[in-house]
Amino acid sequence: MDIRVTDAGRNVKRIQLFVDDEAVSGLYLFDLPMRVGGAVVRMGGIGGVATRKEHRMKGYCRAVMDFTMRYMHDERYDMSVLFGIPNFYYRWGYVTSLVDCECLIRVDGDGCPGALREVRAKHRLRKMRRADIPAVLEIYAKANASRSATIARDPATWRGPRKGSGWQIKARPLVAEQNGKIVGYMFVDESNDSVVCSEAAARDEAAYSSFAAFLARRARALKQETVRVIAPPDDPFAIYLRRFGATFTVRYPLCRAGMACITNFNTLFRKLAAEFTRRARAAGLAQPSSLCVVTDKGAATISFDGRRARVALGERPAQARLCAAQEVLTQMLLGYRGWRDALNDERVRLSGRKAPLGPALFPQGEPFMWPADHF
Ligand SMILES: CC(C)(COP(=O)(O)OP(=O)(O)OC[C@H]1O[C@@H](n2cnc3c(N)ncnc32)[C@H](O)[C@@H]1OP(=O)(O)O)[C@@H](O)C(=O)NCCC(=O)NCCS
Repeated sequence: MDIRVTDAGRNVKRIQLFVDDEAVSGLYLFDLPMRVGGAVVRMGGIGGVATRKEHRMKGYCRAVMDFTMRYMHDERYDMSVLFGIPNFYYRWGYVTSLVDCECLIRVDGDGCPGALREVRAKHRLRKMRRADIPAVLEIYAKANASRSATIARDPATWRGPRKGSGWQIKARPLVAEQNGKIVGYMFVDESNDSVVCSEAAARDEAAYSSFAAFLARRARALKQETVRVIAPPDDPFAIYLRRFGATFTVRYPLCRAGMACITNFNTLFRKLAAEFTRRARAAGLAQPSSLCVVTDKGAATISFDGRRARVALGERPAQARLCAAQEVLTQMLLGYRGWRDALNDERVRLSGRKAPLGPALFPQGEPFMWPADHF
């Protein structure tokens, strides 16, 4: 039995376990830049995990996962994310950390005035062309500049959405144009059975009405009563849609869906100093404060001098000491859980003096990865 790592494309590794030279279990490891707030960290995205049917329940996937966790640590991947098999990945420290959200709108608004079907487009929408990509990426980067768990799409390689709302569904990328300038973009599922927008963003919020009008028109053409928009609940387009009567479903699944873990505590925390500065300032913190964070995967001491945060690896004297299971810290770093909620968890202990840095560093948010980037 041996485990081999091979290249499977740009930024993708194939990790496979062989028995008598037959590949029996394996996965793909994607090397992706992911945001933690405004910081970009190296994320190992895991997908395509499978053991051949006749070889299941023999510990092969466990061996592949154990190997991959060590591999990611040694190769300095800071965090890992997967969308996965329910009730399986907790064994390796993965915990649900991404919000799963969508909103449903009835096109005719049950006959009420102000329904989606009445909205008028302000722009012409057309298919995204290659030459539009820089503008689309700029809008995407701005819209998601501080949203944790989004992918920092690389202008050198990004060519459009790889998928729509589901694994088997393609996305049609559209752009809204005004005076020859791209003002927004939207990805719509290529499906004749439903109307689904899997991503939208705009530099000019007037484009939202053009997106909404397009979705309503498509629903009419396909004789669909509803349109579905996938977006985190605090997304500006999702907020815009409330006016048409929208039902939001926000899921916080247990032990499944978008899960994350810390794979290399030290490399991760070294990258977070600027983000911690940003968070402390955003919270209006002006006085010096310090916090030591201790987990089963490492420890770091964060000191804020009133202007800048510094991160020192290891345990140092600090106002307060937060001892948290890696799983809870992962959720806290991404904002899936805020400071107060995390403290009310038996896997978390806070000791020392009152340190205002704690709540400042761990605000609650809506960590989200757009479906086009799922792997
Ligand atoms: C899930 C799967 C990868 C497990 O592979 P495996 O080689 O049989 O797993 P292992 O024998 O190494 O089992 C490791 C542990 O997981 C448990 N486990 C196995 N299959 C499981 C499942 N489907 N759900 C939850 N737990 C499972 C085992 O009981 C074992 O537990 P323990 O040792 O902690 O007591 C395999 O069943 C599979 O390929 N399923 C299809 C997955 C798929 O569709 N992948 C594509 C999209 S990602």
